[in-house]
Amino acid sequence: MDVKKVLQGMTLEEKASLCSGRDFWHTKAVKSQKVPEFEVSDGPHGLRRQTLEDDHTGDSESIKAVCFPAACATASSFDRNLLNKLGKALGNECQAEGVGTILGPAVNIKRSPLCGRNFEYFSEDPLLATELSGAMIKGVQSKNIGTSIKHFLANNQETRRLTVNETVDERALREIYLAAFEGAVKDAKPWTVMCSYNKVNGKHVSESGRFLTGVLRDEWDFDGVVMSDWGAVNNRVHALSAGLDLEMPGSYGVNDREIIAAVKNGELSEAVVDKAAERILRLIDKYESHKSKTVKWDKDADHELAGKIEEESAVLLKNEGVLPLDKNDTIAVIGKFAKSPRFQGGGSSHINAFKVTSFWEAAHGKGHDLIYAQGYDDSKDEIDRTLITKAVNAAKKSDVTVIFAGLPDSFESEGYDRKHMRMPECQNVLIEEILKVQPNVIVVLNNGAPVEMPWLKDVKGVLEMYLGGQNVGSAEYNLLFGKANPSGRLPETFPVRLEDNPSYLNFPGAYDRVDYAEGVFVGYRYYDAKKIEVNFPFGHGLSYTTYKYSNLKVSKRKLKAGESIEVSVDVSNIGRMAGKEVVQIYVAPHTNGITRPVRELRAFEKVSLKAGETKTVSFTLGKRAFAYFDIDLNDWHIESGDYDIEAGASSRDIKLVKKVNVEAPRVFRKKFDENSTFSEFMGDERLEELVKPVIDSQKHVNDKKKKDTPRSEAISDEMIEESFGYTPLRSVLGFGDGTFDHEKLKSVTDKANGLFGL
Ligand code: BGC
Repeated sequence: MDVKKVLQGMTLEEKASLCSGRDFWHTKAVKSQKVPEFEVSDGPHGLRRQTLEDDHTGDSESIKAVCFPAACATASSFDRNLLNKLGKALGNECQAEGVGTILGPAVNIKRSPLCGRNFEYFSEDPLLATELSGAMIKGVQSKNIGTSIKHFLANNQETRRLTVNETVDERALREIYLAAFEGAVKDAKPWTVMCSYNKVNGKHVSESGRFLTGVLRDEWDFDGVVMSDWGAVNNRVHALSAGLDLEMPGSYGVNDREIIAAVKNGELSEAVVDKAAERILRLIDKYESHKSKTVKWDKDADHELAGKIEEESAVLLKNEGVLPLDKNDTIAVIGKFAKSPRFQGGGSSHINAFKVTSFWEAAHGKGHDLIYAQGYDDSKDEIDRTLITKAVNAAKKSDVTVIFAGLPDSFESEGYDRKHMRMPECQNVLIEEILKVQPNVIVVLNNGAPVEMPWLKDVKGVLEMYLGGQNVGSAEYNLLFGKANPSGRLPETFPVRLEDNPSYLNFPGAYDRVDYAEGVFVGYRYYDAKKIEVNFPFGHGLSYTTYKYSNLKVSKRKLKAGESIEVSVDVSNIGRMAGKEVVQIYVAPHTNGITRPVRELRAFEKVSLKAGETKTVSFTLGKRAFAYFDIDLNDWHIESGDYDIEAGASSRDIKLVKKVNVEAPRVFRKKFDENSTFSEFMGDERLEELVKPVIDSQKHVNDKKKKDTPRSEAISDEMIEESFGYTPLRSVLGFGDGTFDHEKLKSVTDKANGLFGL
């Protein structure tokens, strides 16, 4: 399509109509220009394609499809290649179904474990979230299908998600919430970005020119379509001006008419409508020009892939010699999730899975001695003593008991947040009762977010499957019986108690307000800074083999701010089974200025190692690995000082450390004036020279006083010296010898400003 020509041929009415959906899933066709409609579909971990023509509310059943593991699980893989593979499979499915863009990935930060939609999101860490979502985007788009990275920005709770106003400071926005999108947008170039419902700092994101145009397009070079989340448009004209091109699902023409009226009465320039329409036309053209008529979708192959992905994602949290299971043992398999697993979450990501493989099915017919008992009813949280007794009896007869537990559907879903972090009481009681008769207990979890584990110290094993997709059972079987080696790592901290979480006092806020008071101290950034005991730290995950780290090298010990540094480390598999280790590189600043997290993940790589094998893993750390966002400078900034480069297996399992020193030029946050403190003049000979007479004026008085009157014992020279640095120049007016007045001080500060061109 010749986009420019098509655009020129369109009337204002046609252009406005292109800027909103015809129905829940399609844009409107422009018949006069032969522009076809364009279909989008949820996302993110499978196709929720709805084909009913008259379903404007989008709540009817979707086509039979494949439910892959949700992002809570795939994030645990720490594996870009795996996410890329998942993206390719989804892209292929979209091609086969005629869907031009899949609505995902969803990269919002897990600020609180309670967010009802955490299962759809990747991590509490922005680097992990942005890298993995970027890999997935590249996979989908390699099949010439668009993605819609969502929900931009800071959609971290479901409570009042359409109206809530979040107060988030600029540093937290930059370092955490924007950063989750930034890498993926810049590097993977999603075709579309979906803007979120909420307000940030007083403004609907859908009306924020700063975020939708300033940050996305001007700073990050995003050149695709910004579409609204479904119903996120508050004022259509303001949204269009801010950079929101496509309103979904549309408003039966109401908002299109507002656009037309605003152009006609001069409130809105037609050029703004042109720009949005042009971007939408380019999106349609991108898809149409490489649309395939021959791609086939092999559901069974994707079912297998879903199982493999889950196998690489599940996290072995605890193992005291009980796993892998011994195939000769009698094994009690307890819990409804063993036969009907919970493998996905509720809401718009819900897939109509064409088949589901449970652990029980996967293990069936393989010669194992298994006894099953249901243990609990997941449709209600009521303690059923009959079910528990049957389960206890089965456990008694076994050598080892595996309990399949977790969160039922009603506990976590899009649309609302969890009220607490507990599992259903009936499941906790079941586990406690079984522990009374059976010492070898393993808990397998199906859940989208961390849970409290009152029984943790008493069970011998915990395997976190998260919401593992429709083939979760095969992965459970392979991992439990050691046919596969667990290699997932936690993309989030599992706190002991909800109260330990940094957002605890400010989640979900009240009366349409929520204050992100913890700032950048989200997840492990907080737990590690406060040295809070956790059940499992960020990055944690066990294996059936053992890895050894050695030979951490850095390409230089001294570097200038902004320079890159090469880091490498050797990792060896010193056990007997092949496996995959996730090497995590953290940077820990030892600088004196701004308060920063103890360490932050700055690079990671998953490596596959045969038994006995060693590999050297290399990384490049660029400017951002050392930087924080400075609100005075309104830019990324690196402070001079020492930084530890740490290679570890979790944020609390640092194996090797190398110190480097970074030298950064002095920056001036503001001009010198009489409120500048004496310390601001130190460290530069020219400034020290300038300020010396001011100091002398004050010293003169101090020295005289010291001579004439005995000083109170409570004050020493050191104390005066120490506090002097924080004294502003103007104090010399009252405490000096009278040499200085405002004018004289101004001449000092003018000269200081002149020296640095301030
Ligand atoms: C969700 C989006 C989803 C859209 C379409 C919204 O309610 O927030 O993630 O893509 O619906 O179903």
